[in-house]
Amino acid sequence: MGEPAAEPELPVLLDSAKIAARVRELAAEISRDYQGRTPHLVGVLKGAWVFMADLIRHLSIPCTVDFLGIASYGADAISSGEVKITKDLDASIDGRDVLILEDILDTGRTFHYLQGVLAAHGPRSLKLVALLDKRSRRVIPVQPDYVGFEIPDVFVVGYGLDFDQKFRHLPDVRYLPKPPSH
Ligand code: IMP
Ligand code: MG
Repeated sequence: MGEPAAEPELPVLLDSAKIAARVRELAAEISRDYQGRTPHLVGVLKGAWVFMADLIRHLSIPCTVDFLGIASYGADAISSGEVKITKDLDASIDGRDVLILEDILDTGRTFHYLQGVLAAHGPRSLKLVALLDKRSRRVIPVQPDYVGFEIPDVFVVGYGLDFDQKFRHLPDVRYLPKPPSH
């Protein structure tokens, strides 16, 4: 059996072992904070599903899950903040302890929009879990309640994150040496 082709040759920012260790820590933290409750995890499609799948398997408390599909207008690398909902929630979040799971917080526009939409549906609490945080790019001053890694201003792919729908399957978080303009 030959080695799988080394594809693509993008530099690694966070390797899969480092990500796995941090995801376990986040799950432990959330399990502690939500002890005795059953949080409702809302994954933002498509970027967050790999992260979410790993995170929930390390929770020591019960949870329920749902997904919200969103698409930003314009090129994928640029967040205009104008977000279109492509898949609505299946279940009501009224009275629930909601945790929004995002792959990455960049300008903060997407989360700011989601926060407004979801808060209007009466959750008991609403918190944000972001695997990655590009804090230096923030335009709207939103802060995630749980952060995996703070990263520099590079365009990252892998572990669910894409560029133009590519690279989501890569187990490490890698970056594009020539960033798309944003
Ligand atoms: P924000 O609205 O600027 O905070 O952007 C958040 C969204 O932009 C994320 O959910 C991603 O879909 C996308 N995004 C921002 N930075 C990156 C990146 O470095 N790689 C892949 N997607 C990104
Ligand atoms: Mg994207």
